[in-house]
Amino acid sequence: SESDSEITYTVTAQAGETAFLEGKTTQTLGYNGSYLGPVLVVNEGQEVHIKTENQLSEATSFHWHGLKVPSDIDGGPHHPVGPNETMQVDFTVNQEAATLWFHPHALRTTAEQVYAGLAGLIFVEDDNSDQLNLPKDYGVNDFPLIVQDRSFDADNQFDYAGTYDPDGTYGDTLLVNGTINPYVEVKNELVRLRLVNGSNARNYTFGLENGAVFHQIASDGGFLEQPVALKSVTLTPGERAEIIVDLSSYGKGDTVKLMDGDATVLALNVTEETDAQMALPETLNAIPEMTTQGAAVQQFTLSGMSFMVNINGNQFDMDRIDTEQSLNETVIWEVHNAQDMMGSMVHPFHIHGVQFQVLSRDGAEPPQNEQGWKDTIAVYPGETVRLAVTFPEKGVFMYHCHILEHEDNGMMGQVSVQ
Ligand code: C2O
Ligand code: CU
Ligand code: CU
Repeated sequence: SESDSEITYTVTAQAGETAFLEGKTTQTLGYNGSYLGPVLVVNEGQEVHIKTENQLSEATSFHWHGLKVPSDIDGGPHHPVGPNETMQVDFTVNQEAATLWFHPHALRTTAEQVYAGLAGLIFVEDDNSDQLNLPKDYGVNDFPLIVQDRSFDADNQFDYAGTYDPDGTYGDTLLVNGTINPYVEVKNELVRLRLVNGSNARNYTFGLENGAVFHQIASDGGFLEQPVALKSVTLTPGERAEIIVDLSSYGKGDTVKLMDGDATVLALNVTEETDAQMALPETLNAIPEMTTQGAAVQQFTLSGMSFMVNINGNQFDMDRIDTEQSLNETVIWEVHNAQDMMGSMVHPFHIHGVQFQVLSRDGAEPPQNEQGWKDTIAVYPGETVRLAVTFPEKGVFMYHCHILEHEDNGMMGQVSVQ
């Protein structure tokens, strides 16, 4: 049901079977279906009511990644929903247009449940997104792409156990929105791709096969100020980017491929030509620069590998508050990826309940496409990233590495906001 001021959804976690490959179907999990889930469209200022329901045989939770909500409905490990239980989630949308997502976050089972298929999308819309002259015809010139990698065993089943890696489980088969070798049929116009790295651990560097320039228009938490011209964009797990691909110079019968290195992510098949060409707006958003003068600095050091991963030497403990911050106070989070003798990896650092700004990467200004709102940021080996973080809601919020096996293995802490 829908009105301007209110909207109601039901999100049910359930088991099912999905036909990815020829022959036998794969046992999967999904929301309101057998794999992945619906797109929840909400508007800024709207009251949202979501009835969450767990039809699985184990506990799960419903975490709204990127949404600014109080921690009691944030769906972290403190709020599991048991088998055959429901939980009501009510909130008012208090943020600008963005592509967010949702996924389970119960204690130590996030990686396995996401791998099995639990993930869905949230599109926040607002007056700006309504007015901006951008492709916004869902499935016509506006496509969400949840990009994941999976391994199948000889019986066509997901081989999570057989390929499990405590430093992040990788798959050898690319799935986009649950489809192998996907393509879409489009006109030769501007096409908007809402890229979501929904993988447990794999990083993607997206680019066009012919090396052509595309424009990034949004990062995790909203539109960038201006479109940023790029030949590639890297997303670590949990990160999103909206890009615009200009197909106006192509004709019927042409195919443009979105790639990750040598691997095809999506084929855009031009099946119709149009004269109605849209021009990309020069200005997309006004992003106020956060004031950090005199702000306190908190340090977060990411270290260890495998089952030893930790933040500031500690592994996740539900009963321990790791840091405190006042409501609406801006604190500089200085996140350092310590290289150690065991090795080093890029850690995607994610904070719940907030959209933050990136102040610097190793002292330097962040790249243009990281100068918008973010909730997940790649921290490369040896690097120190400074973030401006202001929580708009009270409660206890998680922060963690979004390599889901690292999260489950304890590379997570909690901040109490009062
Ligand atoms: Cu998308 Cu705490 O996670
Ligand atoms: Cu999150
Ligand atoms: Cu990590």
